Amino acid sequence: MAFYSQCYCILSLYLYLLVFGMSSASAQLSSNFYFSTCPRALTIIRTAVNNAVSKEHRMGASLLRLHFHDCFVNGCDASVLLDDTSSFTGEKSANPNMNSLRGFDVIDTIKSQLEAICPAVVSCADILTVAVRDSVVALGGPSWTVPLGRRDSITASLSAANNDIPSPFMDLSDLITVFSNKGFTAKEMVALLGSHTIGQARCLLFRDRIYNEANINSTYAASLQSTCPTSGGDDNPAPLDATSPVIFDNAYFKNLVNNRGLMHSDQQLFNGGSTDSQVTTYSNSPATFYRDFAAAIVKMGNLSPLTGTNGQIRTNCRKIN
Ligand code: HEM
Ligand SMILES: *[C@@H]1O[C@H](CO)[C@@H](O)[C@H](O)[C@H]1NC(C)=O
Repeated sequence: MAFYSQCYCILSLYLYLLVFGMSSASAQLSSNFYFSTCPRALTIIRTAVNNAVSKEHRMGASLLRLHFHDCFVNGCDASVLLDDTSSFTGEKSANPNMNSLRGFDVIDTIKSQLEAICPAVVSCADILTVAVRDSVVALGGPSWTVPLGRRDSITASLSAANNDIPSPFMDLSDLITVFSNKGFTAKEMVALLGSHTIGQARCLLFRDRIYNEANINSTYAASLQSTCPTSGGDDNPAPLDATSPVIFDNAYFKNLVNNRGLMHSDQQLFNGGSTDSQVTTYSNSPATFYRDFAAAIVKMGNLSPLTGTNGQIRTNCRKIN
């Protein structure tokens, strides 16, 4: 009997370490964080996201990208939402962000609704993280439970935004390095890139590919050339997934298998390299893509959150209190 209880105790300790040790970065996040302090928070966010996405389907994509650019730059702390002032330089003017990021007004709307019912309680970083889940669901993708309790930064980093966000002109090995620097495997990177099943990119970011690259379907390249001429039209948008641009499905991966990736970085995932087989798997199984995407996006949302007494709960997502 003594043997068994000792054994059980060690087993419990082991399980405890397994559960809490593995997720130490997010140990203080919990899905019921606002249960007593702002019980209507999740409903309000979902309603506002549904309204915004039904008004403009692309908004779901824009919010998803905003979360990525927040989390990859010193963690998911809403630093990307801070406006520049005369005495403060934020991340909005970083190369990957300027004239590109969208969705700030949707976050502002949600924030003011939440300030009206539970002031200074729900962080901008959590609003954005929940809005991403609701956007993906609104566009037909998978759902997942969102860990909550992030707080908002009182700083931002232009240089980190320029350095830590991958470029669409990178080759596979550099993309793998960028994601590995944030703790992601190549497989998780492929799942996260499935985000490009929704949203758009501008001509200047895919022009070189549609005129000069060989691993692109010529019918597809020709159709893009009419919206993206050799000179001019830099800001003309094209869907990242031409098949179903506002549906969160696995068509992005089917496109890659058919050499119909829009940007150089997209097609790098299926170009005879180490990630080809993962792309093929996702192109054949939406369920596998959904499962891996949900796990990877939760992991991304758990990158270095501010918790406890770190940071603050901004009352206006665009500026520190
Ligand atoms: C290899 C890594 C990645 C690169 C090089 C990349 C690059 C880009 C670029 C250049 C654009 C178009 C920007 C513009 O036209 O101004 C874009 C759009 C987008 N990206 Fe990525 N991205 C990457 C990974 C991700 C990840 C991990 C996510 C989400 C988790 C994501 C979500 C999106 C979405 C949803 C859009 C469309 C946004 C909209 O329509 O407003 N991307 N990406
Ligand atoms: C390119 O796509 C078209 C369909 O739009 C298809 O008929 C054609 O076979 C593809 N080209 C190649 C080389 O696969």
